[in-house]
Amino acid sequence: MKNIQSLIEQMSLEEKAALCTGASFWTTTPVERLGIPEMLVSDGPHGVRRVPDVHSIGAKSLPATCFPTASSLASTWDVDLLHKMGEALAEEAIALNVDVLLGPGNNMKRSPLGGRNFEYFSEDPYLAGELAVSLINGIQGRGVGTSLKHFAANNQEFQRFTINAQVDERTLREIYLPAFEKAVKQAKPWTVMCAYNKLNGSYGSESHALLTDILKNEWGFDGLIVSDWGAVHDRVASLKGGLDLEMPGPQEKRVKAVVDAVLSGELEEAILNESVRRILNIVFKAQETPKGGEFDVDAHHKLAQKVAAEGMVLLKNDGILPLKGQQHIAVIGRAAENAHFQGGGSSHINATRVAVPFKELQSRAENAELTYAEGYPADDSFHQEMIDQAVGLARSADVAVLYIALPSYKESEGYDRADLDLTVQQVALIKAVAKVQPKTVVVLNNGAPVAMSAWIDGVAAVLEAWMMGQAGGAAIADVLFGKVNPSGKLAETYPLKLGDTPAYLNWPGGAGEVRYGEGLFIGYRYYDARQVPVLFPFGYGLSYTTFAYSNPTVSGSTFKDADGLTVTVDITNTGKVAGMEAVQFYVHDQKSGLVRPEKELKGFAKVELQPGETKTVSIQLDFRAFAFYHPKYRMWITESGDFDILVAASAADIRHTLTVTLESSLSLPCVLDKESTIREWLEDPRGQAVIGPLLQQMTAMSQQAFGDDDGSEGIGMNVMDMFMDMPLLSVLLFQQGALTMPAEEMVDGLLMQAHNMK
Ligand code: BGC
Repeated sequence: MKNIQSLIEQMSLEEKAALCTGASFWTTTPVERLGIPEMLVSDGPHGVRRVPDVHSIGAKSLPATCFPTASSLASTWDVDLLHKMGEALAEEAIALNVDVLLGPGNNMKRSPLGGRNFEYFSEDPYLAGELAVSLINGIQGRGVGTSLKHFAANNQEFQRFTINAQVDERTLREIYLPAFEKAVKQAKPWTVMCAYNKLNGSYGSESHALLTDILKNEWGFDGLIVSDWGAVHDRVASLKGGLDLEMPGPQEKRVKAVVDAVLSGELEEAILNESVRRILNIVFKAQETPKGGEFDVDAHHKLAQKVAAEGMVLLKNDGILPLKGQQHIAVIGRAAENAHFQGGGSSHINATRVAVPFKELQSRAENAELTYAEGYPADDSFHQEMIDQAVGLARSADVAVLYIALPSYKESEGYDRADLDLTVQQVALIKAVAKVQPKTVVVLNNGAPVAMSAWIDGVAAVLEAWMMGQAGGAAIADVLFGKVNPSGKLAETYPLKLGDTPAYLNWPGGAGEVRYGEGLFIGYRYYDARQVPVLFPFGYGLSYTTFAYSNPTVSGSTFKDADGLTVTVDITNTGKVAGMEAVQFYVHDQKSGLVRPEKELKGFAKVELQPGETKTVSIQLDFRAFAFYHPKYRMWITESGDFDILVAASAADIRHTLTVTLESSLSLPCVLDKESTIREWLEDPRGQAVIGPLLQQMTAMSQQAFGDDDGSEGIGMNVMDMFMDMPLLSVLLFQQGALTMPAEEMVDGLLMQAHNMK
């Protein structure tokens, strides 16, 4: 490792400022005289998009394996598999001379309409965080850097460069930050990429609160923070906020602005030096991995196929799947010939090869005859004759398999979806085919939920195949024929209709503002709380076998929050074929000082079982599994009391409930102040001790005056209930005549006593 400090001392101010801005679209600025090389970054996240000329923007990239996108990856619930995929991504990055891969994306799916949802994992921060950790560990374990993005609250594309996301602190801490926090703390990404949007008034590229206070100081992030491409508005302000590297470059004017700011004293040189130090650390770290060579195209295609197969979610199956013994299979839908396997935008990969779904099906169909009809066009125009042709084929076949892909331009970086709908033609096609052929299987290619109520009752099976990567066509065939038993489960809720979705009334905002009015309640947290029926719940997915959950245990029925808890359950494959099951553990707080979601995912495990086999699944629940973020204390707290651990096959399929008692070991700071209400005084043991006797006296006096005990003078109130939400000062002011000193002085004295108590 180079002596970074000595390099910084040798660098001129101009060289330091230049290092903090890219030299080109994909490279950092080298300093040849000091032996500081350039560093090459490339998208990301589910493949390496390395353009041939790294000093230009470039569109068509060099061939690389296009793995499934994040919606599919998340549906695997398989951290080991993501780790392997990460290793493969790193091998490709090395072969393509890439130092840092720009991913994974780790934002929450606030609305199913989000244009980049296909690039993000989940609506649940715990699941997303765990998946990001293993993908990053897989990549970085091989010496290639990652860029965890887009930090933070980048949940829509509408006005994505400018919109101000208004998110309250608790929601930020419990929903929008934890997936980043886990990844930063546990996997230590080399770089974190800021978001374009503003959060609570500050640009993602400038927010000192986000970049410096939380990311660097609180979470201990020691890598570099890179801007999203073009996210910097004011280079000096962004350096002050904590943004180390601006991309892309070159930006001569901005480099000069930094130099001028240091010379004029507006920017402390120490701030610039700190960013230089962070950048040099990563630049030289990247040098430790020799680049070049080749990657194993076949092996990676196979791995992409395995990931795609494991991510597929069998949503409905009346028994038609797996296909067996059919003589004539009508294959309908242009996605059977033109695989739709990735989304639009910066993540777009030039695949090394593409498995054509129709051919893959044919090669596994043994003696069956396959016929094909296109069924629908590439856009959303309507053509009845295509439907008629498909219906003709379907009628005479033993089974119809419909490959339905959302038109590719519908899901892309840069804009959101307008609705959850398939095209009018696709819906009409499915209905018409299902009418003549009850054995209709629908295979879907999309990156986020689509509405199905119009047609799902009429079809025999639905397989969610996602944006499945280049090998997905083969994976579909494997699942349809039962060569692979589907084991994917949804990492996001499928709503019945758009109007049911959590952010519906606050989406996508306007006039530069979007208010996250649903607060903590996104995804299943919302559907649980409002008891809104859904099409398919979070965590749901069918298999060709069945699983029994038995012998749930906890390491102790009473436990200290700091010690955490171990939960185990036996899973048995009770069917006839081997399979994998994603077992989920949710925590429900029976009683809490602040409103909490009905339940939250806090653990999961994927287990593979032969028919009849039983394995014990075990997970750890730590302090955070029970804690919530208290905006008043500005910290994560636990409250003593009873919690339920729900052992589940999905958010709507709870197999066992275990009740445990938590003993909180926290000693909370005293946050009582002049505005604290009687309820807040009483909730704090110190407050209770200080005002308890006084309150009794005052309540008794007031109850005599205002209560309706004697039926004559009272005004029918329970005085104590009224006092609960009044500040102490107001209560005292009501008693003026009876007090021995002014109310204000009394409050000051009582506050001092409370704050001085242990
Ligand atoms: C995207 C990033 C991407 C970058 C470089 C931006 O527009 O938001 O996700 O890594 O471009 O292509």
